[in-house]
Amino acid sequence: MTRLFSPLLLLSLLAALPAQALNVPSGFRRPSKHDTNNPILLQHQQQQQQQQAPLQDTSANKNAHKNGIYVPERPIFGRFLVITDIHPDPLYEAHADPDTCCHRGSNKKEHPLSTGKYGLPVSPCDSPIHLVNDTLHWIKANLHDSIDFIVWMGDNVRHDRDRYNPRSEPEIFAANENVVNLFKNAFGTDNPYTPYEIPIIPNIGNNDVYPHNLVVEGPTLQSREFYRIYYEMVPPSQVHTFNRGMYFMTEVIPGKLAVISINTLYWFETNPIVDGCDRKKDPGALQFRWLAITLKELRARGMKVWFSGHVPPTSSWEPTCLSRYSAWLHEYRDVIIGGLYGHMNIDHFIFHDVRDAYREKRKEGVAITHHDVPIDPNPHKKLEKLNARQKKLVHQFSRERDPMMTINDKQEYFNNLRLFYEDIYLGHEVDTNIGVSHIHTSIIPTYFPGFRIYEYDINGLEDATPPSTYANGQPFRPWSEIFDATEAYLQHVKHLSYEDLDELDIKAESSASSAFDLLQLAEEQDEMSAMKKKKGKKGKKGKKGGKRIVDPTWPPEYLEVESGPAYKRQLFTPLSYTQYFLNMTRINIAEEDFSYEVEYETSKAPYNMSSLMAKDWIKLAGDLTTTEFTSASSSYELWKLYLHYAFASSSFEVDL
Ligand SMILES: *[C@@H]1O[C@H](CO)[C@@H](O)[C@H](O)[C@H]1NC(C)=O
Ligand SMILES: *[C@@H]1O[C@H](CO)[C@@H](O)[C@H](O)[C@H]1NC(C)=O
Ligand SMILES: *[C@@H]1O[C@H](CO)[C@@H](O)[C@H](O)[C@H]1NC(C)=O
Repeated sequence: MTRLFSPLLLLSLLAALPAQALNVPSGFRRPSKHDTNNPILLQHQQQQQQQQAPLQDTSANKNAHKNGIYVPERPIFGRFLVITDIHPDPLYEAHADPDTCCHRGSNKKEHPLSTGKYGLPVSPCDSPIHLVNDTLHWIKANLHDSIDFIVWMGDNVRHDRDRYNPRSEPEIFAANENVVNLFKNAFGTDNPYTPYEIPIIPNIGNNDVYPHNLVVEGPTLQSREFYRIYYEMVPPSQVHTFNRGMYFMTEVIPGKLAVISINTLYWFETNPIVDGCDRKKDPGALQFRWLAITLKELRARGMKVWFSGHVPPTSSWEPTCLSRYSAWLHEYRDVIIGGLYGHMNIDHFIFHDVRDAYREKRKEGVAITHHDVPIDPNPHKKLEKLNARQKKLVHQFSRERDPMMTINDKQEYFNNLRLFYEDIYLGHEVDTNIGVSHIHTSIIPTYFPGFRIYEYDINGLEDATPPSTYANGQPFRPWSEIFDATEAYLQHVKHLSYEDLDELDIKAESSASSAFDLLQLAEEQDEMSAMKKKKGKKGKKGKKGGKRIVDPTWPPEYLEVESGPAYKRQLFTPLSYTQYFLNMTRINIAEEDFSYEVEYETSKAPYNMSSLMAKDWIKLAGDLTTTEFTSASSSYELWKLYLHYAFASSSFEVDL
């Protein structure tokens, strides 16, 4: 049983939110420092930050101080770490039977050492604690002084695959807390006001919730418990957002670069609680309303952003959420750099074509605001076919009962992926129509463990003084005020009837430009609807037919937008990544020292990519697929290597 609240209870809880959300259970270390509602403490905290966080870049420091965000005293290296799907399992036994999830019995099938201390590769077994601990130690010893931030995409607990040892919710929370402590050991400080040396952006995975995949909108005991576990990584301005939705935005380079942690479980097809994003009050749709405000604000500040999440944006998302996502990538092509995802354990990349998205938008009957350039039919390719292929992708991964794909599923997945690459390569006209998402190797040895270091352009970072005023000359509003207004607005959205909400959205389309405007309109709408109810008026009925549908979960269409870091080389353009892997054969069977090795680098052979912009991925997609695909062709050879890396050099691909 989950401990969920009824909607009524939720409302009353929400009223009591500040006090309760910040009520830290006794026994927790340093209980009071995140009490962001205590003005004296906050002031003290900000003074401390001012004293203790000198930055080489004073403008950013001023900005950071103003927004209550800590800035560590570190140079910027132009590199960040992506790590995901750690899945620690305290029940793991070396040499145990993989059919028991390596919990019992003995492994008679494999080499006697293959289910070693560090886990059984290419198996359904989770990660031994040794693997998890030593991975974090290795990262600390080898990468600690060369990265700017960490994106960490969730699933910090064993799978629920052993029916003799079912998981419990307390176990899930404890497992998440243990992994937080490992990050603390590696990157923590002794300073309670700057608890980590660098920003760490966590994410909630589909196995981090109980029962797995199921998440309702908060605040719930669950979301509060996650806040208790992750509060030092979540900006204080967003405690209410996190308690409600378990998503947030972190300024990793204050005033310049941000990472958004998306709660992909609200867009996940397999979450039984949510519907698609076309229902205006669904948690997934609310997340788009939040994103709309946040992205607009980031753009107004000239900032850039990475998206991050657990479940990747494939057909394992609700189709109405997936098409909206592609549309946002396109309309904010000046701001969004790309997406970083986990969940599948397989190293690969996927595309998002805005033309697919706008066909869906048209089908929903949502008003097209400005133009329909991106929907122009593609002369070369049958996009319907392409869309169908994309839909097929990854479907197998979202199966609830059988999280391991069969060999046939994987074979089919990669066949579809190759056709998808080919279609994008041949069919794209403008690279800004295409967005890219990266799906990362896991620590759990489903194949071999691995993680990734991205390198990005920091040329000009020193001179780039972030502005402190909007284009109209007004000073930036603090994020805390923006997010508070956003939360209040979203409460009205949930409270209004669908009819009133439609009316509000039409009014907001022409006159609202900020969270504050939206809140004001929503308050007015709420008052009007209360008055209507009092007077017993039913509201105009039957005017649905022919009415314009305005749905702000779809982005406005921006014709004139400069190309951002994903499309034109500039500050924060991703330049390359280095993929690390752990050769389990070497560690377990040859019993060599535990160490990760470089698996491949995008800047070197065979890929030789000069940067990681959309056009570079489109070109690679072409190299991987076009020109006669025969066993003698170079694209065939390259594709084989691509598959080898996809499964983290575990040689799994030879079975395909
Ligand atoms: C892993 O690390 C944690 C925290 O440092 C420690 O408490 C635990 O004993 C370690 N476990 C193993 C198996 O090394
Ligand atoms: C992994 O290690 C084994 C044993 O040392 C070696 O034979 C194999 O080539 C290594 N695999 C890779 C991808 O380096
Ligand atoms: C990639 O670069 C390496 C060395 O820098 C070179 O030997 C190789 O020919 C290049 N490959 C391609 C396909 O350009």
